[in-house]
Order: sequence, then structure tokens, then C-alpha cells
Amino acid sequence: MSSQSRKSPVSLGTLNRKKQRGERFAALTAYDALFAELISSAGVDVLLVGDSLGMVLHGHDSTLPVTLDDMVYHMNCVRRGNNGAFIMADLPFMSYASEAQSLESAAELMRAGAHMVKLEGGAWLAESTRLLTERGIPVCAHMGLTPQSINRIGGYRVQGRDPSQAQTMVDEALILQESGASIVLLECVPVELGKAISQRLEVPVIGIGAGPHTDGQIMVMHDMLGLTPSSIRVPRFVKNFLPESKDGIPGAFEAYADAVREGRFPGPEHSFA
Ligand code: KIV
Repeated sequence: MSSQSRKSPVSLGTLNRKKQRGERFAALTAYDALFAELISSAGVDVLLVGDSLGMVLHGHDSTLPVTLDDMVYHMNCVRRGNNGAFIMADLPFMSYASEAQSLESAAELMRAGAHMVKLEGGAWLAESTRLLTERGIPVCAHMGLTPQSINRIGGYRVQGRDPSQAQTMVDEALILQESGASIVLLECVPVELGKAISQRLEVPVIGIGAGPHTDGQIMVMHDMLGLTPSSIRVPRFVKNFLPESKDGIPGAFEAYADAVREGRFPGPEHSFA
């Protein structure tokens, strides 16, 4: 899809309709204006200004050092380059530790141009989700492997393998939907759990390492260009789309969006049984 062919900006309504029609959608992280323009013009529906920027841009070994000011700076860059994609922005570590703080932090990202904020966690986010939603701020709940909790989790590993942990995740996803979450993002969960949550929820579910059955897929932009920093082990769910591009980096973005829409990505080799 070229920049001229995006008929109207992608909204939450667009993503909901895609879920209802069973059409998959593609999302990628973006952190600056140029890549925001290239990715959105390639027809990728959702841009995430992810706190992964702490690792891929700033050279940290986790997302914990990322500040709200960092996120606002990159959010402004992405807004200037965006060509009609829906923009989600991460609330960084400890910027939503209380309900009042989550309102103030989210407001800063929305003023910078975000269309939605993403928070990592489970049922404990229900009240913040309700408050944000009531005040006009759409919420994406990031569940499964939540990198801001890496010190509690103890490593970047698959979540929800244990049946009781899987059931808790289903229950908490339903609680967050009930509290107003408009999207749930699942990271690193077994295929069957990704499928079960996507089927149970009315709102769109975006997956990364959550198998092929989620409504949307997301990847860190650097990973899908084969540019994972050497300090980070390339996760199983990553695929480099550059080799199959006919048009360099923009072609890789198009190849990724096409593969997601046509159900060719992720395959079993990118998923956790
Ligand atoms: O920050 C980020 O890039 C993310 C994705 C891994 C989903 O949260």
C-alpha cells in the first residue's frame, strides 16, 4: 500500500471492524518521524511508540530506565511522520504506579499525539483502566510477558504454560475488558492461550509470540529488519523480512503487513506450543 492509497486514518473503530470481519491487522514499533512515515505508508495499521526504545535505541539492557519524558519526545517524532496509522504509546516503568499518576502520565502522551496508551499488567490495572477510559483515553492492556516486571518474572520466558496461570490470564483479560480496555496485547504465551483469549474477548487482541490466532500481530521494527542489538538474544517469534523485500526497507514493511494479513506470519516456527 502506498502513501496515496490509505483512504482514511486508522481508528479504534477500524480495528474493531477488522476483528468482527475476521481480518488480521499489522502493527510495528516506531520511534522517529522517518520510520513512522515509512511504516505507516507501507500500510501497517498500528504504530507503537514502545518503551523497547530503551533497549534498541538507548542501549539499555531493559526497559526500566525509560522515562515519561523519553516517551513524550519519541511520541512527538512519530506523530510528525505518521501517515494515518493508529498510534499507541507505552506508559513507561513507574509512570502509572497509582491511579492519579496514570491519569497525569497518560495525559502527557495524549497531548503529544498518542491515540491510545499501553500499560503492562493484569487485574490490578482495572481501576486505572476505568478512570482513563472514562476520561476519554483508550487503553491497551499488555499481558503475558511484561518486560517492565522482568526482575519479578526472572527472565524473558513464555508465560501461561501452567493451566492455572493460563486461566488467571483469561480471567484477568476479561476483567480488563470489562473495565474499559479497548485492546489487549499478549506477549510470549502459548498458541492455545493466544487463541482462547482472542476468542473470548470482544476487543481486538494483538500478539507478539502469541501464535497465529490473535487479531493483530506486532513486532519490534529493528527485529523485523534483522537489526536486533548484539546484546539481545533474538527471540523465537522474530522474523527478518528484509531478505524477501523487493524494495529495501519499505518493501520489508509491506512484506510484513501482507504476511500478517494473509495469515502467513507467524508460523509454527515463531510460536510456542
Ligand atoms: O515496547 C515494545 O516494543 C512493546 C512490544 C514488544 C509489544 O511493548
